[in-house]
Amino acid sequence: MPIRTTMKIAIINGPNLNLLGTREPGIYGNRAFEGYFESLCKRFSPKVELSYFQSNHEGALIDEIQRIGFDYDGIVLNAGAYTHTSIALADCIKAISTPVIEVHISNVHSREEFRHRSMISGVCRGVIAGFGLDSYRLAVEALIGDE
Ligand code: DQA
Repeated sequence: MPIRTTMKIAIINGPNLNLLGTREPGIYGNRAFEGYFESLCKRFSPKVELSYFQSNHEGALIDEIQRIGFDYDGIVLNAGAYTHTSIALADCIKAISTPVIEVHISNVHSREEFRHRSMISGVCRGVIAGFGLDSYRLAVEALIGDE
């Protein structure tokens, strides 16, 4: 088996996060994710190879997590509103071997009560919320520190 020296980490964004930059900028900021992702790639290269996947569909998120979840070194997951509802996502995270970090741009605990409950926190390696887009960087740092 070849020895891999580069870590493979995936960032996975759920529903409505394709609209970052224009969606409720008072809460989520005015930066599109693609530009931010590029700067993250540069920051962690060549130690970490980052990939990015976004879908508005629960099943597509599950398919992607299953696809990479036995091979990648880490997954940074912002499941958007599915965080608060999806037993299927929780079961999927439980079924794979790759550690998953739950991420939120906003501090979900300072918002509406329905955002205080997460179906996935208990099966994730940890949770980072409330640091804007920087939450993703912190999650990558945590995964690197885990190695
Ligand atoms: C979010 C918080 C969720 O409650 C919300 O549904 C999102 C984004 C965040 O990144 O702050 O879509 O996950």
